[in-house]
Amino acid sequence: MKKKIVILTIILIVLIGVYFLVSNTDEIKLKNAGYNKKEIKLILSSVEEKDYELFLNYDKSLIDIISSKNYKEKNFKKYIEYYQKNKKSNIDDIITIVNSKYDLKDYPASSLLASLTIEKYYIYENTARYLDYANENKKSAKETIKIVNANADKPFYSETHESNLNDDNLILVNKYYHLNEDYEPNDLTVLPSNYNKGLNSSMRKEAKEAFIEMANAALLDNITIKNASAYRNYTYQKDLYDKYVKKDGKEKADIYSARPGYSEHQTGLCTDINTVDSSFDNTKESNWLKKNAYKYGFILRFPKDKENITGYKYESWHYRYVGKKASKIIKENDLTLEEYYAYYVEKRNR
Ligand code: DAL
Ligand code: ZN
Repeated sequence: MKKKIVILTIILIVLIGVYFLVSNTDEIKLKNAGYNKKEIKLILSSVEEKDYELFLNYDKSLIDIISSKNYKEKNFKKYIEYYQKNKKSNIDDIITIVNSKYDLKDYPASSLLASLTIEKYYIYENTARYLDYANENKKSAKETIKIVNANADKPFYSETHESNLNDDNLILVNKYYHLNEDYEPNDLTVLPSNYNKGLNSSMRKEAKEAFIEMANAALLDNITIKNASAYRNYTYQKDLYDKYVKKDGKEKADIYSARPGYSEHQTGLCTDINTVDSSFDNTKESNWLKKNAYKYGFILRFPKDKENITGYKYESWHYRYVGKKASKIIKENDLTLEEYYAYYVEKRNR
């Protein structure tokens, strides 16, 4: 009996010894490579066992990688690959760029690229344009994304495409997207006269119903809103624009009037409300609209300080119907239709 216990104890000691030796070989190897205790602990806890061999020649940058606060074990190999091509770059930027889920390995690492990838409205396909625009204009990642997503890194009217009619309520008509001369929505309906300020005008059916709902709700708050101009066909817009050009010259007219084919009034989805000039701003009616229009699917289409994105001077009276889902997102995130369109419509269509 005694003999048995001795044999079992010896076996146990041998097993513990073997286990101890095996479990310590990695540690010993790392120690021999020159890592200190703290570093070894970090390696053992942050890197998969099969990758320990990468540490066998002492490399401080590997330690910097695995100590970065956004380090993810599953990306370890990708960090190393990207780091090899970008040895002079900041490690945290490398980590952020690799973490981004986009294939950016051919772009040089930079703080700008890293900050672009963590922006909410970053669109991978626009990466090269973001980098060019930000570098040339010394703009932040956020501002750059706004501008480039809106195509406003290109001069207005410089590169134009036909608007996508399938976008329905979200159709984009601006200085880059236009409608054909003969385009007319097929569901235009006349707004009842008590909702019009002057001549009866038309809107697309859903937009018209939303306008009526909005005007009725405003009335309950003692606010009267009436449409002053809604659908305008190509010829009407041409006459209007030509008149303004004659009066103010082309450059000035372009800031407040759309060229024919480029006005969203031709979509039948927008309305100029009450007073079509700057005196409308800060009236109780315009304040009510600013606060409430989104609840009915409308957005302030040309907001203040967004001229560089929309291409137009602030128009406190011009509201565009986009539907309730879009208007809520646009309002909550302080977007223009251009920015919304790039991220939520065009990107989805791709
Ligand atoms: N005033 C707006 C921009 C238009 O002419 O459509
Ligand atoms: Zn208008």
